[in-house]
Amino acid sequence: MGAAAQDNSPSGQLEPDSTWAEEVRALARERDAVLLAHNYQLPEIQDVADHVGDSLALSRIAATSGAATIVFCGVHFMAETAKILAPEKTVLIPDARAGCSLADSITVDQLRAWKREHPGAAVVSYVNTTAAVKAETDICCTSSNAVDVVASIPPDRAVLFCPDQFLGAHVKRETGRANLHVWAGECHVHAGINGPELAARAAAHPTADLYIHPECGCATSALYLVGEGVVPREKVHILSTSGMVEAARTTGTGTVLVATEVGMLHQLRKAAPATEFRAVNDRASCRFMKMITPAALLRALREGTDEVKVDHDIAVRARASVQRMIEIGAPGGGE
Ligand code: 13P
Ligand code: SF4
Repeated sequence: MGAAAQDNSPSGQLEPDSTWAEEVRALARERDAVLLAHNYQLPEIQDVADHVGDSLALSRIAATSGAATIVFCGVHFMAETAKILAPEKTVLIPDARAGCSLADSITVDQLRAWKREHPGAAVVSYVNTTAAVKAETDICCTSSNAVDVVASIPPDRAVLFCPDQFLGAHVKRETGRANLHVWAGECHVHAGINGPELAARAAAHPTADLYIHPECGCATSALYLVGEGVVPREKVHILSTSGMVEAARTTGTGTVLVATEVGMLHQLRKAAPATEFRAVNDRASCRFMKMITPAALLRALREGTDEVKVDHDIAVRARASVQRMIEIGAPGGGE
């Protein structure tokens, strides 16, 4: 049965076969749409997209793409960031219900209250935040440039870093900055990849490399394992999602333990087919990312839904902090 005859409601079942892929590509051409997919998307969504990458790379592509429409296969804050950077374009997300527990861990009122407690401090917000929080932020960052963003702020100025406590701890370690205050938010998927689980996996695979996303609860534990001599320092790599793909390209053979959302394994296995990539926690699947189903993508392209809008005044203020984000740091990885 071809894609056209199947249930294409966002939650509907649809076989992502070649008919589906051809229809997606044809509709994208008709709409002059570029398809962007985050590294945590379902494999078939990644394979049909024009670009697959991390938050930073996809934001940069959104800002410079010549297409009239951006179809963002990711979660809502990512599509909102694309709209902030490209207000003249139509931005679609295949299912607007695809939220983010980390973005929900700080509200704009909470951020305003925190700023009042630290007058004069610079606010650095992870891109996993709402547009309203970005509008109250000096510089946004992603996992691939958080350290560079904080390092760009004069050392004597206090920094409020939100909302991810584990990424904040990583930045504090890397910059050695005592005046960095970290909000106690977390992503439920990454927080669930914990230290004991990592230690057990590392013990079972003593020669494996460890790729660890800095949002993980186990990032600090990995460095503890290094300190204890359980894992050699050179085996531990704390990386953004596309930093992992770049590292995979030169890894050769052997085993790599991967601490992040399981969608990541698809790009890693494509980048290094001879390497065995194993999830540290194979239940670490983000239900929000997985709301972007083949059916939802087809519906988005056929019907022009769900369109992402950002309040004009909020977008103008948020753009300044997001623009600084895309200017700082090494190129974020993406195809
Ligand atoms: P990256 O910026 O490394 O892609 O991670 C983003 C993330 O965790 C999305 O949920
Ligand atoms: Fe948000 Fe975590 Fe899902 Fe990423 S994996 S979109 S941070 S809930």
